[in-house]
Amino acid sequence: MLKIRNLCKTFFAGTPNQVNALRDIDLDIEEGCFAAIIGTNGSGKSTLLNAVAGAFQVDEGVIELDGVDIARQPEYQRARQVGRVFQNPFAGTAAGMSIAENIALAMRRGRRQGLRRAVGSKVREEIQSRVRTLDMGLEDRLDNAIGTLSGGQRQALTLLMATWRRPKLLLLDEHTAALDPKSAGQVAALTKEIIQRENLTALMVTHSMEQAVQLSDHIVMMHKGQIIEQYGAECKASVRVADLLNAFDRVRRRELLDPDVADLLARQYA
Ligand SMILES: Nc1ncnc2c1ncn2[C@@H]1O[C@H](COP(=O)(O)OP(=O)(O)OP(=O)(O)O)[C@@H](O)[C@H]1O
Ligand SMILES: [Mg+2]
Repeated sequence: MLKIRNLCKTFFAGTPNQVNALRDIDLDIEEGCFAAIIGTNGSGKSTLLNAVAGAFQVDEGVIELDGVDIARQPEYQRARQVGRVFQNPFAGTAAGMSIAENIALAMRRGRRQGLRRAVGSKVREEIQSRVRTLDMGLEDRLDNAIGTLSGGQRQALTLLMATWRRPKLLLLDEHTAALDPKSAGQVAALTKEIIQRENLTALMVTHSMEQAVQLSDHIVMMHKGQIIEQYGAECKASVRVADLLNAFDRVRRRELLDPDVADLLARQYA
């Protein structure tokens, strides 16, 4: 479904600030799979999602979605097939516009129409019934400005909007990280529910090992621009949080070693 090959991205190439953010990434995500991406700060998780969404041109590589290489498509074109939710609850919605207006815009995602804010009664009914599925009472507040909602309510709505017209791929970048624990739990549960109900294929970046273990079908661990471990469908069920923490620990210890010794150990573990 999503097939990534030899994906490379270097920022500030040829300068003293050069960052090899993605180093030869290969990744296969099957249709209907919910994959979690974990890794240390700066390991390239967001860069990988941004590369798939088309936020910048990659230096090299293939990004195939349903057999079509989208790596050179502009971002707006990919947006028709790729839904996104970011960490910041303020990023995905327009604060001054109402819930209904924000959703009406999302419904036209990727279409070449101007910004029409009027919402007809039939569309409004559809909006109301879908917002009701969030179970947050927001269906009675459709005309309230989004800015008056809590972060958790905003992220729930952003999630609903990102999946309104079923995307081929849903990208979530730490979308619960800025929320209090209770709201984070609610939005995480809602994420799983929507992904299962719509049978979506999703990539979710998270720093929460619990989230990765509990929600996903496939775990991808990144470090310094590379994928260093993967727990696919066949072994994911038996992975525990402690296994992930141990894997991180191994990476840290390996880095303290002489590169030759580290290489030897890595081969022993392989
Ligand atoms: N647009 C950009 N311009 C320059 N450098 C960038 C850009 N985006 C990312 N980087 C750099 O690429 C590296 C990987 O960053 P990235 O944001 O992908 O990490 P991350 O794994 O998402 O980390 P975090 O867990 O902190 O969100 C970092 O060194 C970062 O500074
Ligand atoms: Mg990030």
